[in-house]
Amino acid sequence: MNILITGGAGFIGSHTYVALKEHGFTPIIVDNFSNSTEKVISQLAEICQESIEIVKGDVNDPKIWDQLFTQYSIEGIIHFAAAKAVGESVENPLKYYRNNVGSTILLLEKMQQYGIKNLVFSSSCTVYGQPETLPVTENSPVLRALSPYGNTKQICEEIISETTLATQDLKSISLRYFNPIGAHKSAKIGELPLGPPANLIPYLTQSVAGLRGPLQVWGTDYPTPDGTAIRDYIHVCDLADAHVKALAYLIKQDKAPFYDYFNIGSGQGSSVMQVIQAFESATGKKVNYEIRDKRPGDITSVYASTEKSNKILDWKAKRSLEESLRDAWAWQEAIK
Ligand SMILES: NC(=O)c1ccc[n+]([C@@H]2O[C@H](COP(=O)([O-])OP(=O)(O)OC[C@H]3O[C@@H](n4cnc5c(N)ncnc54)[C@H](O)[C@@H]3O)[C@@H](O)[C@H]2O)c1
Repeated sequence: MNILITGGAGFIGSHTYVALKEHGFTPIIVDNFSNSTEKVISQLAEICQESIEIVKGDVNDPKIWDQLFTQYSIEGIIHFAAAKAVGESVENPLKYYRNNVGSTILLLEKMQQYGIKNLVFSSSCTVYGQPETLPVTENSPVLRALSPYGNTKQICEEIISETTLATQDLKSISLRYFNPIGAHKSAKIGELPLGPPANLIPYLTQSVAGLRGPLQVWGTDYPTPDGTAIRDYIHVCDLADAHVKALAYLIKQDKAPFYDYFNIGSGQGSSVMQVIQAFESATGKKVNYEIRDKRPGDITSVYASTEKSNKILDWKAKRSLEESLRDAWAWQEAIK
């Protein structure tokens, strides 16, 4: 069964490629390498021990979709391709609306034109902002996004659900990811931030590897047990497995139109200090850090209730925070 993965050379897409292969699907990548490199493809070939199906192109180009849908018989699509740097999205919102929202509209038009029925969309827990109650369930309200990037995720969810429900035959799912970290066990693929990482874990591993100065801990006066902000870190391979489950669930649905959305996290909240301690105990490496003032716009605490995805998708995160951090470190050592 051919599954098209847009942005399949990226961090989450490449791990999902491996998970799909392991579960008997035939993944096909489309990527323009705007935030990844062609080396990912050769690394994937080493992991999977075979050549990789890849079409190089921009998912905002209608001709790429025509090429893909005439070349391959596609059962479903996982739409990862998007720009994801929050700070850049504030400086250049139109790049984000054009790339993330524009590509999703075109994708839905082309799915309808070519009769492709199944879509899994990469959404984010940013849609919840700072939820009033924790863990956050799918029933929590979607709050006004704090950045154009976050807004693109909300808008795309709406476009996908409205479009799906207006058809006779589309089926789609949005997966709201919490904080993906870690890397494949082989340390052949992982997260490749271009420039200084905006996320905690790649900054931490680069700092420990001596590529950056001390880790900056933004705020120690949050109303949390140790004063630092709490997030839900999920191993990227667990996240990849959730896509396989979501796709299988979607394909199984015999009633269309169909739309649903799920939290995909570990279900555990970890503070920045807990992450530092877990990293040190998992790797034996010391983390040097500096305490800084809170950053405006950062939320205090968010972690997922995964009851809905556990029950309906039959999926649960299996890997611990320590394992995720050990794999993130092995990846950092492999690329340094
Ligand atoms: N990593 C996270 O923390 C996180 C959290 C929540 C949601 N997400 C979402 O998950 C998806 C994947 O994230 P990731 O961390 O793997 O990002 P990534 O940047 O590593 O991967 C995205 C891939 O898409 C490609 N791409 C971007 N625009 C494209 C275009 N127009 N045409 C073709 N390819 C294009 C990039 O080259 C890259 O390989 C994104 O939609 C992101 O917004 C990520």
